[in-house]
Amino acid sequence: MGPVVDDVLGLSHKPDEAELLQLEQKYCSWGDTVHYLDPPKFFERAEGNYLYDREGIPYLDLQMWYSAASFGYGNSRLNQSLKDQIDRLPQLACQYLHPEKVQLSTAIARLNESKFGRAGRVHFNVGGAQAIEDSLKIVRNATGKSVVFAFMGGYHGRTLGASAITSSYRYRRRYGHFSDRAHFVPYPYCFRCPYDKKREDCDLYCVKQFAKNFETEYNSFWDAKARESEFAAFYIEPIQGTGGYVVPPVGYFPALKKILDERGILLVDDEIQMGFFRAGKFWAIENFDVVPDIVVFGKALTNGLNPLSGIWAREELINPDTFPPGSTHSTFSANTLGTAVGLEAVRMMTETNYEEIVRRKGSYFLAQLKALQAKYPRVIGDTDGIGLALRIEICREDGRLPDRELTDRIFAEGMKGNLDARGRPMGLVLDVGGYFKNVFTLAPCFEMTEDEIDLAVELFEQLIRRCAPDRT
Ligand SMILES: Cc1ncc(COP(=O)(O)O)c(C=O)c1O
Repeated sequence: MGPVVDDVLGLSHKPDEAELLQLEQKYCSWGDTVHYLDPPKFFERAEGNYLYDREGIPYLDLQMWYSAASFGYGNSRLNQSLKDQIDRLPQLACQYLHPEKVQLSTAIARLNESKFGRAGRVHFNVGGAQAIEDSLKIVRNATGKSVVFAFMGGYHGRTLGASAITSSYRYRRRYGHFSDRAHFVPYPYCFRCPYDKKREDCDLYCVKQFAKNFETEYNSFWDAKARESEFAAFYIEPIQGTGGYVVPPVGYFPALKKILDERGILLVDDEIQMGFFRAGKFWAIENFDVVPDIVVFGKALTNGLNPLSGIWAREELINPDTFPPGSTHSTFSANTLGTAVGLEAVRMMTETNYEEIVRRKGSYFLAQLKALQAKYPRVIGDTDGIGLALRIEICREDGRLPDRELTDRIFAEGMKGNLDARGRPMGLVLDVGGYFKNVFTLAPCFEMTEDEIDLAVELFEQLIRRCAPDRT
């Protein structure tokens, strides 16, 4: 064995970055990643808001692992809970019980009962897409139907089931026919309204269009005699994540929910990216005054430590008589490490006023982004956000046409690590999303100070000036 692996394990020497990259090109699958940069960047350390590269240069992170590390890299309280659990009960098969699983389920179920006025139960898995899969089983089991509505621009993960309800054909193209592919409905993306309306006076035209589907059986969604829809559920993200942190207009979701209730269609709320205060409330859907039937969560529940995802569902959908043991069992489902950190994170979320913190910092950040937009109208077409889920839409000179190329340049420039952070070198970690891949989706750390927000805006302005000097 020795000589075959010694050099890469670092037994004979510590491989440098060039060597590692060569090995990566040859031995790593690229299917489990997304390569935005060529070559991708190595990082060595993470703390608070910052990632550090191999030279020790800090990169201010405005995306925090797609919102999975909202409470900061290396959060000492959450790390400690993981360490304690490792020493106490590091592993346990899911057929046995451990206190943290029961306590965490109870905490989320009781919180939801107080928020939504409905009893329910909680069920765990590991990744977001896996929890989506589990929710699809709950929907199918409860309704006997296998097709659902979902939004254009929505993202629910990349397992087969999650890909079937994620709008991008790109994620399905190479995998054959998806007979259970969702029917995709336009999302209320008002900056680029799919119906060319204006938010101020559209009177929620998009909801009226959706309602029309049920006017007659000939529109293919509704059997008027049986009074039954072919569609079991509507999968939503309250704020689209990968779609570009698009915030819907007030009144949209209540109007949509009314139609769903009239047609017996369940509402499944995907909170994987926006849950746990990203949008200023425990669940993002709480901003919009509707009660979901199922909530799916993941990412920030463990601050990106030992992964844990899950679902909450109304009692009628998930009680053991309806959804019996073994319905979705997976070896790592309610693992002891994830549930311990999740429990501590929920404790922290109930003890700390994140609603106030996230709203205050979010308004401060958004005001600065609006000022930047006013200063660079030939680069930034739209800024918006709710809580600390913020968007910057990069456009051509006219302020409307998406400028993907400039977006990519800004992103890559931020990763060079040579911006001037008040006299010292620094990088800026951004993430690109949106229907036209021209939106910076910002999910900064909740612990970020106002001074760090100022710094982030200064660094972003440097990127604009470097990458679009003719438009500044
Ligand atoms: C809204 C939403 N749903 C589902 C997923 C899939 O989660 P995971 O990547 O953990 O499978 C994501 C991931 O970005 C997401 O943002």
